[in-house]
Amino acid sequence: MSLPAATRPLNILVLGGDGIGPEVIAQALRVLRHMQAKHGLPLEIEEQRYGNATWRETGSLMPDATHAAVDRADAILFGATDSLERTGMPAEERARGSLLTLRRRLGLFANLRPVRTERALDEVSPFKPRTLAGVDLVFVRELSGGVYYGEPRGIERDADGRRRGINTHIYDEDQIIRAARFAFALARGRRGVLTSVDKANVMEAGALWRQVVTALHHDEFRDVTLDHMLADTCGLMLNRDPKRFDVILTDNLFGDVLSDAAAGLAGSLGMLPSASLSGPQPNGRRRALYEPVHGSAPDIAGRGVANPLAAILSVALLLRWSAAAEDAAREVEAAVTAALDAGARCADIALPGETALGTDAMGDAVLGRL
Ligand code: IPM
Ligand code: MG
Repeated sequence: MSLPAATRPLNILVLGGDGIGPEVIAQALRVLRHMQAKHGLPLEIEEQRYGNATWRETGSLMPDATHAAVDRADAILFGATDSLERTGMPAEERARGSLLTLRRRLGLFANLRPVRTERALDEVSPFKPRTLAGVDLVFVRELSGGVYYGEPRGIERDADGRRRGINTHIYDEDQIIRAARFAFALARGRRGVLTSVDKANVMEAGALWRQVVTALHHDEFRDVTLDHMLADTCGLMLNRDPKRFDVILTDNLFGDVLSDAAAGLAGSLGMLPSASLSGPQPNGRRRALYEPVHGSAPDIAGRGVANPLAAILSVALLLRWSAAAEDAAREVEAAVTAALDAGARCADIALPGETALGTDAMGDAVLGRL
């Protein structure tokens, strides 16, 4: 007899991917396995090949075995992807294995990017300690729509033979409602403040965004405080008064840009984790992908110096959102804070003259506190 779907072990697929992805994910995986053993978590973990090296060796960016594993996976722990290195790869293979295709295939629409400041990194951040104290915000970046997927797109010639590039920014109200409902519910469990970010002054899709969020607030979430903010203003307020933010709801492109802009608050892009979630499946679970925000960093790949903390903090998000193991998630986050408080630094968060740990040694520093 098979177990009811929701009580079978959680299937976790690990894809290191390109650049520093495999290095940081190796440390994240050590932490995940440790927490699995410590808390007796019912996890099935499998690793598969993905990325440009896989393409060079097998002729496929995402081989069939990996595709099959994606279909089985409840959650994916993902390192990084470097699409700039893919010249010469057939467009079809590129598209079939791209991160955007993967996001769409899993139905991921809510991209959570928490930004918290660590006291130990006050001096590393370009901001003043008084600006940083108490910053604890989370982006809900809509991940399924906007200019990332809009059609038509392409490079074509106009009537005068001049080339022009075209992209389409488009949102329907169902996409907006789905992301907004998630963000309101998240705010309700936090400090109860949602800032919805758009360019309603310039873009019709932004004007619709604002109308839909306002109506949903009125109908379902009057207990949450709602602010609307223009995206350029949000860029300014993130560095002038970041403490004012609790949950920031925004579209795919603004969320991409503003979350990188907020990374300076955390000291380095190497500190930011992310979770991308689908709607609840028939088995009650959301499908999910967890990845550090930083990307593949080809300039430092293979040298063992990349900061694994964003990947390790992504494991904390996996424990929280997919494994329903809140205690374990908090332990991982506390271990990262403790390692930083004790002076553990990788190169991206070291001050001049401080000794920087390599990727593995930073993994040791966190595991030693678990
Ligand atoms: C991110 C990345 C991706 C994005 C790239 C790698 C396609 O920058 O997740 O922030 O733009 O969504
Ligand atoms: Mg980005």
